[in-house]
Order: sequence, then structure tokens, then C-alpha cells
Amino acid sequence: MSTPLPSLPAFRSRVVPVVVLQEVAHAVPLARALLAGGIDVIEITLRTPCALDAIAAVARDVPEMQVGAGTLLTADDVRRARDAGARFGLSPGHSPSLLQAVAEAGLPFVPGVMTPGEVMAAREAGYQLMKLFPATVAGGLDMLKALASPFGDVRFCPTGGVNLDNLAGFLAQPNVALVGGSWLAPSAALRAGDWGQITALARQAIGACRG
Ligand code: 3PG
Repeated sequence: MSTPLPSLPAFRSRVVPVVVLQEVAHAVPLARALLAGGIDVIEITLRTPCALDAIAAVARDVPEMQVGAGTLLTADDVRRARDAGARFGLSPGHSPSLLQAVAEAGLPFVPGVMTPGEVMAAREAGYQLMKLFPATVAGGLDMLKALASPFGDVRFCPTGGVNLDNLAGFLAQPNVALVGGSWLAPSAALRAGDWGQITALARQAIGACRG
């Protein structure tokens, strides 16, 4: 009998902002701006040199924000994200060595999938929540409906091509638990320090979830 996988932290928001940060100084005001708009979860992608410091800053200074590390591609990424204080991890895909590193790190994790075979491999490893990436390229709602029948126990977080106009449709799909997207933290708003715009985008997204 295998050990149960650690659960994701509890958060209220069904929308996960996917962010690429160029400056560590943006991390805390961004997290506070999203919280002010009703979003209590964030995926900081390991795509920039400051990402780990940004995760550490949010974990330390904004504890009510559930900070996840995204774009985990290697075992080393997993360890460094865990050590920085990420409460969970996400990846655009998964591989045996990545899943092993995640298990060893004890990090709650959302593996990425795009095909039925990848869903089967993640399911075999014990995962029931998976990131469908890139969601609209993979077929969007039609793909999610097609996956629902053979994989009745799997829930998805479609990411990639999700936006304010289509998020309600995704969330209405019974096998969709969450959606992710980058539109909530536009790079121009980050550069300008326009935290009010980010709070407004978060409120709009939360409104669309309710609608
Ligand atoms: C990404 O990896 O950049 C995310 O999937 C976000 O995709 P999006 O920019 O289409 O929201």
C-alpha cells in the first residue's frame, strides 16, 4: 500500500493566477493586490532568476496567500521550490523522476497532462487533480468532456488559453476544480506597479466564477 500523497493547502479561489516575475520586489505587493481582490492562491513560475526569492518573500510576508511554485521541470526545481517555502508545486507535465522528487520532498503537487496516457500515469502515481496544459490547444471543453468518462475520479485545472471570457464555461464543467491563467498579472501592470489594476482583475475573475 503506497503512502497517501500530501494534500494541497486549502484555498477559496477557483482561479489560480500564473505569474512570471521579473523583480522580486513585485512579489509581495502582487500577492496583497490579489488577496484584496479575493484570490488567495498564486503560482509563481520558476521561469525567471528571482522566482525562488519571490516565493520565499510571499511565504514569509503574506502567509494568508497560498503560494505555489510553477514550471517545476526537474528534481532540483522541486527541492529548491520546497526549500523556498512553496506550499505546493505545479508542472506543465510530469516524468517518473519528477514525481519521485515530489514524493521525496513531501510537496503537494499538481502534475501537468495533455493526453489520456499522461492522465493514466499520473493517476497510477496517486494524483487526482491534474493541470490540463495547454488547455485550449488540447481541445478545451471538448477534451475535458472526453476525459470525464474514462477518468471519472480525476479533476482538472485547465491552464493555457483560459481568460475572463471562457473561465465560467470551464468551471461549470463537472471535472474542472480550478482554472489557471496569466491574464491576472499582466507584465505591464507589474512594471508600472499598478496594483489597483491587479486587484480589479482579481475581483472581475471572482465575479465571473460566481456568475
Ligand atoms: C503558462 O504556462 O504560461 C500558463 O499556462 C498561462 O497560460 P496563459 O498565458 O494562456 O494564461
